[in-house]
Parts: sequence; C-alpha cells; structure tokens
Amino acid sequence: MKAIVIEQYGGREQLVERELETPELKGDQVVIDMKATSINPIDWKVREGYMKDNIPFEFPVILGWDAAGIIKEVGTEVKNFKVGDRVFARPATTRWGTYAEEVVVDEPLLAHLPDNIPFEEAAAVPLAGLTAWQCLVDFADIQEGDKVLIHAGSGGVGHYAIQIAKSFGAYVATTASGKNKDWVEELGPDLFIDYKEENFAEVLNDYDIVLDTLGGDIQSDSYKILKDGGRLVSITQPPKEEEAERHNVKAGFVFLDPKGEQLAELAKMMEKGKLTSVIGHRFDLSEEGLRQAHEVSESHHAKGKIVISI
Ligand SMILES: NC(=O)c1ccc[n+]([C@@H]2O[C@H](COP(=O)([O-])OP(=O)(O)OC[C@H]3O[C@@H](n4cnc5c(N)ncnc54)[C@H](OP(=O)(O)O)[C@@H]3O)[C@@H](O)[C@H]2O)c1
Repeated sequence: MKAIVIEQYGGREQLVERELETPELKGDQVVIDMKATSINPIDWKVREGYMKDNIPFEFPVILGWDAAGIIKEVGTEVKNFKVGDRVFARPATTRWGTYAEEVVVDEPLLAHLPDNIPFEEAAAVPLAGLTAWQCLVDFADIQEGDKVLIHAGSGGVGHYAIQIAKSFGAYVATTASGKNKDWVEELGPDLFIDYKEENFAEVLNDYDIVLDTLGGDIQSDSYKILKDGGRLVSITQPPKEEEAERHNVKAGFVFLDPKGEQLAELAKMMEKGKLTSVIGHRFDLSEEGLRQAHEVSESHHAKGKIVISI
C-alpha cells in the first residue's frame, strides 16, 4: 500500500512516500480501505519529535490518527462489522497511522458511518470530535443551561465543541478572529468574541465551563470568568492544582481516549445534521499534499479541519 511516512524526526521535508506491507490483521481488528483522513496538531508535534518521550515510536512512522473508509477484511473475532461497511475511527496511537491506503483498526474503536455522510466529512471528526465530547461531557458534565466558553471556536476541536455544547442546551460563547466570524456563527454559538478586538476575561463572567484549547495566559485568565464550583478543562496544558484550588474550580487535562461507542453517538448527531464538519483545507495523499497540510496546521490558524482525500 502507498503511505506517507517519516523515517526520522524533523521538518516537513521528512514526509516521504513509501510502499509498505499492510500490518498483519489480529482477530479483533479490521482492515479499512481508506477514503480520507485528517490532520491534527499532534501529527506535526510527533513529526518534530516533541512527543518522543511520551509516545516512543520505531521508524518508519505513518502519522495521522483519523480514518474513514470501507472495511475490506475482518478478523475472526469481529462481531459487529462486516466487509463492505462504511466506517470511521480514531485508531490506536501506534506507528501505523492513517496517511495510508489501508489502515488496521481495533473493533472497539470503530463506528458505522451514516449513508448521508461523505468520507471527507467523517474523516474530520474522530480525534477532534471525540476530544470535544470527552472534555464537555465526561470531564465537565455539561448540563442544559450551563454557560460555556469554547476557546478557538474556529479550530478543529473548537468547532465541534460549539455544536456539542449547543446540543446539550448550553449557552455558548466562543473566541476566534474576525475573519472566521460568519461561518463560526452559523454553528450556533450565542456569543462570538473576536479575540483581536476584545479580551474575553473583561467581557464574560459567571461561566460554568471553559474549554481551554490554547493554554498559557489564556488558561490563567479563564479562571477569572468561572463561577465558584465551575469547571476548566484543558487539552493543551495541565492546569496548576493550586491555581484551581484558589478559584474553587474543578480543573483538569484531558488526553483523548478513543472509544467507538462515543464515536457512534457523534455519528447519530451527524446523521441528523446536528454535527457538521467545516473543512477549510483539502489536500491529496502525496508528499506535497501532506507537507502543505502540515504547514497549514503549524500556522495555528487553520480554518476548521484539514482533510486529505485518498
Ligand atoms: N489533549 C488532547 O487529547 C488533544 C486533542 C486534540 C487537540 N489537542 C491540542 O489542542 C490544541 C487545539 O487543537 P485543534 O485541532 O483545535 O487546533 P487547530 O485546528 O489548529 O486550531 C486553529 C484555530 O485556533 C484559532 N486560534 C489561534 N489563536 C487563537 C487565540 N489566541 N484565540 C482564539 N482562537 C485562536 C485559530 O483561529 P484564527 O485563525 O481566527 O486565529 C484557528 O482557527 C492543539 O494544541 C492540539 O495539539 C489536544
């Protein structure tokens, strides 16, 4: 199969095309004939070697951890999926990622893809959508009427988080720059804050939940808008315990733990039109395509999701 791999850590030039054997299928796994994948910032963080102490990989490494396609082979113990099923997944964090024509995925990580959802839209969802879900639902226990601030509502995680929070009946504020205002507002937030014009910490107060996608001062300033007993959940930087205690806030860091059954919940929302993917950038599965895609992600100013058609 064709794959885009890295053979050592480094810059975008390390992304090279290779022919590799598809890994051997275990009993509880399926092989997906890949139709699309998407880019997440972790891809270039791994490529640069920033994650090598947390996630040690042997080379070559196929980056990418979002899959959408059609099952072409099933292991002997697979129960709920068959050859020909349209599926999507956030595969396990191994060196056999998704910038490839074929990907092997464990059954518990898979979800069926509704017929009305194109593969590109599906491939955008798993990593970013599940992260948003686990932050808001599992960690922050979001409830109807909660006031929620989503930082970077124009990013991969943020634009799904807005839609998930609205589906729970929350009041949602979000930050992004003015160039993204029109399309972000179509996702349904109640308040849009252009972070280049206004400081969120000066205009918001009494919030129940903040989803921190940026860290640093933005995380520290987020305590100022939370009510006593509020929740701060970060995906970039573990909050400091003493800071959280001082503000009487439940604060924590979420690192995505992929689960097929939660992805199936997102699939139901997608089928009903309650969760849509905004794809701001599209590339193909080639060295040049992936290098350009990483460049967009590394800018920190991607619009929605970056998708790779296969
Ligand atoms: N812990 C986990 O499991 C996990 C999972 C997923 C992601 N992450 C991490 O979470 C972070 C966000 O991921 P992502 O995929 O959502 O990133 P992304 O798609 O690359 O985010 C880009 C967006 O951030 C916005 N942005 C940049 N600076 C901003 C600011 N100061 N205020 C508000 N918005 C700003 C940009 O909007 P403008 O162009 O308008 O500035 C852009 O649309 C990354 O660091 C990623 O590695 C962690």
